[in-house]
Amino acid sequence: MDMLVHQDALPPQALTHADTGAAPDAVPPARSPISPHPPQGGPGDPPVVTVRKPIGPEHDLTVAWVARSFGPGWASEVRVALDPRPVTLFVAVGSYPADPAAFAAQAGVPPDGTTTERAAQPSQAPALLGFACYDATARGMVGPIGVADAARGRGVGAALLRACLRDMHAAGYAYAVAGGVGAPGFFRRVAGAVEIPDSSPGPYAGMLRYGPD
Ligand SMILES: CC(C)(COP(=O)(O)OP(=O)(O)OC[C@H]1O[C@@H](n2cnc3c(N)ncnc32)[C@H](O)[C@@H]1OP(=O)(O)O)[C@@H](O)C(=O)NCCC(=O)NCCS
Repeated sequence: MDMLVHQDALPPQALTHADTGAAPDAVPPARSPISPHPPQGGPGDPPVVTVRKPIGPEHDLTVAWVARSFGPGWASEVRVALDPRPVTLFVAVGSYPADPAAFAAQAGVPPDGTTTERAAQPSQAPALLGFACYDATARGMVGPIGVADAARGRGVGAALLRACLRDMHAAGYAYAVAGGVGAPGFFRRVAGAVEIPDSSPGPYAGMLRYGPD
């Protein structure tokens, strides 16, 4: 099922960039603050999540993380979104969760911790918590979007989706289509998305899929 987001019908805060001071990505105090800038806080400060576009050295790591967390199909779409300049992909980076064991389990890190990917290291160093992209499945489509299990329910997904919609709005898109939606309530809640009738299988008709190896 596909869903339609009417950009002009979004609440104003959903389309205002955080740098204007309106801080659209700020979430209620009970949640982690979402910042458009790298964390500046010191020890003891609440965890900060940054939603931004990845820079070049982070591209391969992002693709690998998405492949591991969400599978090769979404990783393929992430590669597409990393191709244009500027890229059409946002990542959420933060220090949450702080518990090394939980994070290692979430990230699929072997017990001995051997990995070269910083995103998979249990530490207070920046870690990849989620991603969202657009113009990846097809032009005008938003998604896929995914947040690490351990970081869900904290406003990270909403911040990522809003970042994509702001970018699409700035690029002149009047609508965004979320394809093959697996979490319709999320898109309804964050972006007022409505179901597109008869939209399944939509653009995915006849799509090649990975089989068992
Ligand atoms: C869907 C997903 C991205 C949500 O990320 P998240 O960081 O947990 O979402 P948020 O905390 O920002 O939630 C924002 C709002 O949407 C709601 N919400 C989140 N997931 C929801 C769901 N599956 N169904 C209904 N509402 C949902 C939250 O309750 C919250 O509402 P609130 O503003 O009233 O508190 C995440 O659960 C995920 O990665 N799921 C697996 C991948 C997936 O299904 N992606 C979508 C493919 S179409």
